[in-house]
Order: sequence, then C-alpha cells, then structure tokens
Amino acid sequence: MAVLPIVTFPDKILEQKCDKVTAFDGKLAKLLNNMYDTMIEADGVGLAAPQIGLKKQIAIVDIGDESGTLEMINPMIIETKGEQTGPEGCLSFPGVYGEVNRPYFVKIKAFDRKGREYELEAEDFYARAIQHEIDHLNGVLFTKKVTKYLSEEELEGYEEV
Ligand code: CO
Repeated sequence: MAVLPIVTFPDKILEQKCDKVTAFDGKLAKLLNNMYDTMIEADGVGLAAPQIGLKKQIAIVDIGDESGTLEMINPMIIETKGEQTGPEGCLSFPGVYGEVNRPYFVKIKAFDRKGREYELEAEDFYARAIQHEIDHLNGVLFTKKVTKYLSEEELEGYEEV
C-alpha cells in the first residue's frame, strides 16, 4: 500500500494533455494499486494520473456502489446523451465545489490494466465522475465548467461528492 501526494492547482501538470500509455506491465499495475490507495485515503470517488504528477492517460473511478473500481487507460468518450446538473469537487481543489452541467449518459472505450479494450456505459453520478476524470487527462479542470460556485452550506442540500 502506498499513498501518493496529490498535486493541487495551480500546478501546471494539471492543465496538460496526457500521453497515451503503451506499456501494460507490472509497473502500470502497481501504479493503479497506488492510485487506488491514494483515492481511498483522500476520500475521493476518482483520481487521474496528472493529480499524482504523472502525464499519462490513466484514471480510476469508484463511487462506492456495486460498480466497483473502474480503471480507465487511454479512455475515449464515444457517445453522450442527455444532460444533468450537479455539484462537483476535485481532490486537486480542496474545499472548492461548484455546479457543473454534463451529459447524463456516457459510453466510453478504454483499456484495462492488462491492455484489453473494453466499452462501458454509465449514467447519472457514475457518468459524471467518469467525465470529470477523462477531462483531467485532457488537461481540463472542473473549474472551467463550473456555472455556480457553492459554499459548504449550499453543498449540504446535495449528495456528497
Ligand atoms: Co478532479
């Protein structure tokens, strides 16, 4: 188990486009395990490689339900539908929350840690978390999409993120 330090804004790496992963090896597996430990320790529902200082297309999502932990390597959004508005936070912006509009449904294509390609469909909060993490891999931060910042009191009326 290894908990890695989390990079916070305004570190430049957070706004860079990440490079594709080409080696699906033991090093990648270890990195994913460490990212998981880091996300859990920070009480987050997702974590992208640039948030631990790595410019690679690797992200994980775990919203704490039966979906389990999603590992996305070189992910691509191939379809979106609908719309949703909800609060978001980010481990790289401690204490910052805001409302963000996103598609309600996403279909993605990505690779797992063994280099096997898969497709996945998600909706609602799961889709929101997936889109937030894929944005990270493109150097897009949620603050670029916030329509209204929320105070801690305003956040209480929402589901915790
Ligand atoms: Co984030």
